[in-house]
Amino acid sequence: MAGLSPILKQATPVLAERGEGVYLYGEDGRRYLDFTAGIGVTSTGHCHPRVVEAVREQAGKLIHGQYTTVMHRPLLTLSERLGEVLPSGLDALFYVNSGSEAVEAALRLSRHATGRPNVLVFHGSFHGRTVGAASMTTSATKFRAGFAPLMGGVAVAPFPTAYRYGWSEQEATRFALRELDYVLATMSSPAETAAFFVEPVLGEGGYVPANTEFMQGLRERADRHGILLVVDEVQTGFGRTGRFWGHDHFDVRPDVVITAKGLASGFPLSAIAASKDLMAKAWPGSQGGTYGGNAVACAAALATLDVVQSEGLVDNAAAMGTRLREGLAKVAADVPAIGDVRGLGLMLGNEFVDSDGAPDAAAATRVQQAASAAGLLLLTCGAAGNVVRMIPPLVVNAEQIDEGLGLWREAVTSAV
Ligand SMILES: Cc1ncc(COP(=O)(O)O)c(C=O)c1O
Repeated sequence: MAGLSPILKQATPVLAERGEGVYLYGEDGRRYLDFTAGIGVTSTGHCHPRVVEAVREQAGKLIHGQYTTVMHRPLLTLSERLGEVLPSGLDALFYVNSGSEAVEAALRLSRHATGRPNVLVFHGSFHGRTVGAASMTTSATKFRAGFAPLMGGVAVAPFPTAYRYGWSEQEATRFALRELDYVLATMSSPAETAAFFVEPVLGEGGYVPANTEFMQGLRERADRHGILLVVDEVQTGFGRTGRFWGHDHFDVRPDVVITAKGLASGFPLSAIAASKDLMAKAWPGSQGGTYGGNAVACAAALATLDVVQSEGLVDNAAAMGTRLREGLAKVAADVPAIGDVRGLGLMLGNEFVDSDGAPDAAAATRVQQAASAAGLLLLTCGAAGNVVRMIPPLVVNAEQIDEGLGLWREAVTSAV
């Protein structure tokens, strides 16, 4: 009898039967508070009625209108609507299915548009699992080890991970920008550097936010050297951080935005956005694919955007993020094993350390497992797996945040 690949990792033992809002219901009859949101995907909660309705209606009309063969209305309307929320000037979209594919598309575009071979990424970033995206990923060796040779042309500069360095954010930022200049002087000359790829908040890398000085430092260097600034908003986009885009926190203008996850409430849809002029520099034939811009996924994305806007989910993410963060900080104040609580909006991480301040993955895993046994689903991240992250659906309310905090305190108390 066939089953799943034995190396697939399962974060919780839950066999999910259905989902509603911030809750998942297991076949075991239990209700779970889902602070994983399918790794930051179910922005509108599980099975939001408006998303379900839009999907049902679209599935009855047209499921697959292959978008390089025929055009369909949901894709056109979605592009118009995304134009209203994207940074001004980013008025051309190309759709694929996953975050990794969108990163690959942005990589191709950057190289085509500039004629330069290299891209520069920041240490601790996660950009995906396809070979190009994995070659740009430095959040943990497990994503890139053992299937060499990886793609060439990737240079790596530090990210301002202040906690890891044991510095202030300002010291870490100055260091990161200085080292970036050093990398440009010693490894990948500006004339050979097509783009900076940056996450506004390191995701898999441990939920570490960038900051204004750092992001503006990238913009300034990008302008000076004709390098593109590509923001990977796969995890941070669509309201997750309490602003529509993660980079909105930093008053910075990207050349390319990559979006996925929260975009379609669980349907596989991703996109890159750039100016028409920049997009036109992609080589003919380099953009396409069988499933990109699937009609049902586009209908789900349109409904998602409606819900995000009409229910004020971006503001809700900011308010609930503050509430969650304050609660997590209170728990951490009583627990020396939680060395740092950080993040933006509803993208928050708790870093577990041992008595020497070294990463303590075992403690993080024990707490994550205890939480799921208590009914709170969580994931870990970080190079050592020692950060427990919280990414509830953006529809979460104050009562559910408090419920989550209660379960969190219980899990931490029992497992550390
Ligand atoms: C910032 C970022 N980029 C890219 C990806 C890859 O997306 P996918 O898993 O849909 O290929 C992820 C996935 O977690 C991500 O967080």
